[in-house]
Amino acid sequence: MFDFKPSPDQDPLETYRELANAVDALTMGEPDAVANMANVAALLWEFLPDLNWAGFYRIGPAISQGEELILGPFVGRPACIRIPIGQGVCGAAAKQGATQLVEDVHAFPGHIACDAASQSELVVPIMRAGKVIAVIDLDSPVPARFTAQDAAGVEKIAALLSERI
Ligand code: SME
Repeated sequence: MFDFKPSPDQDPLETYRELANAVDALTMGEPDAVANMANVAALLWEFLPDLNWAGFYRIGPAISQGEELILGPFVGRPACIRIPIGQGVCGAAAKQGATQLVEDVHAFPGHIACDAASQSELVVPIMRAGKVIAVIDLDSPVPARFTAQDAAGVEKIAALLSERI
């Protein structure tokens, strides 16, 4: 059994330290990408308050040609399966290779609403050898839920997963 639940009211920096340790411990030595993403989605959901979606999109072959983002393991409501690179918050993160911290999703041009409850969003790319291979997507029903501290914490997790998914 894994029991990684953080204590309530703890400093977010400490939460991210514990979360990174849990991610490291659960994915170390495990080569299966789906298993690792599934466990990390569950950890993000358990550790971070006020989320309505936490999960992964991976870069993969598009149905017709080229590449696009394809839904990976997540916790939350069923979501859009394929997102063109450059579209929505996830597509912007994949195209730019840069974190997208969106305080108000309704003000983000092209935001893709998978769950009407979402008000704010944080999307962090996962890079390998200088290329985006996936993104971590967090949605919240609370406006402006995510801060630079969240972005930095999730970026550390993305770096940890670079060779593990
Ligand atoms: N809102 C995202 C789509 C994915 S869902 O939030 C799970 C976007 O605009 O890319």
